[in-house]
Amino acid sequence: MSAPRPPLFQRVAIIGLGLIGGSLAAAIREQGLARTVVAGSRSTRTLEQGLALGLIDEGSQDLAVAVRGADLVFVATPVSSMGAVLKALRPGLAERAIVTDGGSVKGAVIAEARRALGDHFPRFVPGHPIAGKEKSGVEAADAGLYRQHRVILTPTPDTDPGATARVNALWAAVGAEVLEMAPDHHDRVLAETSHLPHLLAFSLVDTLARQGDSTEIFRYAAGGFRDFTRIASSDPVMWHDIFRENRDAVLEALALFRDGIDRFQNAIEHNDDEALMGVMTRANAARAHFLAMNERTSYTRARHSDDETGMTQQSNPTFLARPGGRLNGRLRVPGDKSMSHRAIMLASLAEGTTTVEGFLEGEDALATLQAFRDMGVLIEGPHHGQVIVHGVGLHGLKAPGKPLYMGNSGTSMRLLTGLLAGQAFDTELTGDESLSKRPMERVAGPLREMGARIDTGEGGRPPVRIHGGQTLKGIHYPLPMASAQVKSAVLLAGLYAEGDTSVTEPAPTRDHTERMLGGFGVPVRRDGATSTVTGGTPLAAGPLDVPADISSAAFFLVGASIAEGSELTLPHVGVNPTRTGVIDILKLMGADIRLENPRDSGGEPVADLVVRSAPLQGIEIPRELVPLAIDEFPAIFIAAACAQGETVLRGAEELRVKESDRIQVMADGLAALGVEHEVYEDGIRIVGGPFGGGEVDSHGDHRIAMSFAMAALRASAPITIRRCANVATSFPGFADLARGAGLDLEVHASKENA
Ligand code: S3P
Repeated sequence: MSAPRPPLFQRVAIIGLGLIGGSLAAAIREQGLARTVVAGSRSTRTLEQGLALGLIDEGSQDLAVAVRGADLVFVATPVSSMGAVLKALRPGLAERAIVTDGGSVKGAVIAEARRALGDHFPRFVPGHPIAGKEKSGVEAADAGLYRQHRVILTPTPDTDPGATARVNALWAAVGAEVLEMAPDHHDRVLAETSHLPHLLAFSLVDTLARQGDSTEIFRYAAGGFRDFTRIASSDPVMWHDIFRENRDAVLEALALFRDGIDRFQNAIEHNDDEALMGVMTRANAARAHFLAMNERTSYTRARHSDDETGMTQQSNPTFLARPGGRLNGRLRVPGDKSMSHRAIMLASLAEGTTTVEGFLEGEDALATLQAFRDMGVLIEGPHHGQVIVHGVGLHGLKAPGKPLYMGNSGTSMRLLTGLLAGQAFDTELTGDESLSKRPMERVAGPLREMGARIDTGEGGRPPVRIHGGQTLKGIHYPLPMASAQVKSAVLLAGLYAEGDTSVTEPAPTRDHTERMLGGFGVPVRRDGATSTVTGGTPLAAGPLDVPADISSAAFFLVGASIAEGSELTLPHVGVNPTRTGVIDILKLMGADIRLENPRDSGGEPVADLVVRSAPLQGIEIPRELVPLAIDEFPAIFIAAACAQGETVLRGAEELRVKESDRIQVMADGLAALGVEHEVYEDGIRIVGGPFGGGEVDSHGDHRIAMSFAMAALRASAPITIRRCANVATSFPGFADLARGAGLDLEVHASKENA
């Protein structure tokens, strides 16, 4: 057995034993973080209660006595009394004592502390735990109050870093997430995000209460009023202090708000529907966006979240797929991801309004949608796959106020780099952990040749910084690799370039950009492997229908093929010949897949896919099919594991730079199930046969997670798949749809990192 850890502090003095001070005392006790906890309070009743509740060992009304011998002093009194309190305790302070506080305004408290503490000031660590309850007083003390809540420390240049580190350790030990920032930054941020909303709530209730018929109003007040004004129940004295002590920042925030209200009033007065909708859709989206970013949760979840705390941790679910079963029925998989991205981009640049149907409401496409909102485009929805984009024209985008966050989406980042290279303003593109590892020079290189100024991060990876205001000229670019993203980035930059821009590809890749540009009235001339666009042509809005994504259908094509007794119909799937490699490969392996009812949908071929189970044979995958099935290999590897004989894939080194290294991560998963295989630099050899269950790490790669879920149909034991949150990037609702078709799949929440 290991020896118990020594406590962080010997003697902690809590000055002011209310909810904040009492809760820290309780948490220190619970975690054994100090040998002795003592309180200082003017009220004997409070001290007695603290003793009775077991929160403290001793108490004193004399603050200098209370802090005597303490190595940590936490001052949790109202901010307006902080100066007097610090002065009163100063004579008792030991030389090495660290003093910290819980005041919600930092500039004013720091000024008071500097005056009151004198040469002890470097041992003062200003802090602000962002936690509270409607109840106050020592009897409301709660050891769990700070768990998963933020504590902001605002050390000054004079603050001893060692003292800051120890206060940081204390808060972390009681379960808080500790951040550091400059005091004036803290005060501004809090004025905008906390003080202003409280002020508005107090003001609204007071304004209505003073109306003649206030009783009537309150009697009929609905949920909106109740929700909005909940915080007007907070302690008036405390808020009085805060508004006074943070006067300047609160006044600035109020002025900012007044501007917003004026804009609202104007829009209503002038029946300006576009401006009105603009405010509301931007606000809606912005709320989802900041929840997604700050809480490290997903766009989809943030949009449906009513969580008020802003402190929840993202759970990264685990899939548990039980062996056996078969897939039956008719199911529509979500909209095509590649086309959804392009629909938002081109509709935003078009003149006029575009209604998009079948839009994929997955994380990746939502990241693109958010980016255009951040650049001032009014976008309504998505609502049941419908999005209405009010195009701003080729030159109508506005500079975003902050870096554009692309989440997990390589397509967003690469295509946007091309599109933004020709704008008048600067932009920065950032992404999640996986995207931050992916190569971006492949787009930055040719764009620089066109005259763009682009910086990539270390090793050519994100963030990507694009310097606007450059004059672009058309180039001819022979693509060094078969990549639709690079091709598209160059063509999109070509919209802003002088003259013609053309690309020649070494092998055909998806041509949605070319087709969709045509649909928006910008012809892309095609001559063999070369596509050419002429700069400066305006885009004209028009309706768009996004078919179901063949990449999402692929999991079901494989699942139904390998599970005996299956028969599935997948309606309205996009079957553009640059995307159907998966069907060709599976058919070569012996799959029974039929394309029924083929038709054209807005320039893209679609069909209903009917798949029945069939015995599969291993094959050598023809190299020319590789770019046409580039996203479907994780699913194809599962088909190979169920086939008779060997399947060999070569010429697929691009798989190593997808959302994960798909060759290695798939190989590790296959190994966990006991599937014999051999890894090559540019591919893999898989030997089909019976396999077992086991635990697979998807490395946060959506397609790998879904592929192994399907593998369970043929496994002899359950398959557990870790880190499946990113399934929502391309296929929200996958688990429900798969379960409905017959897969025995459970989703378990877990708190692993994304
Ligand atoms: C895509 C192109 C492909 C593909 C990706 C989507 C697109 O990437 O893997 O999922 O929408 O243009 P590469 O261009 O890197 O091959």
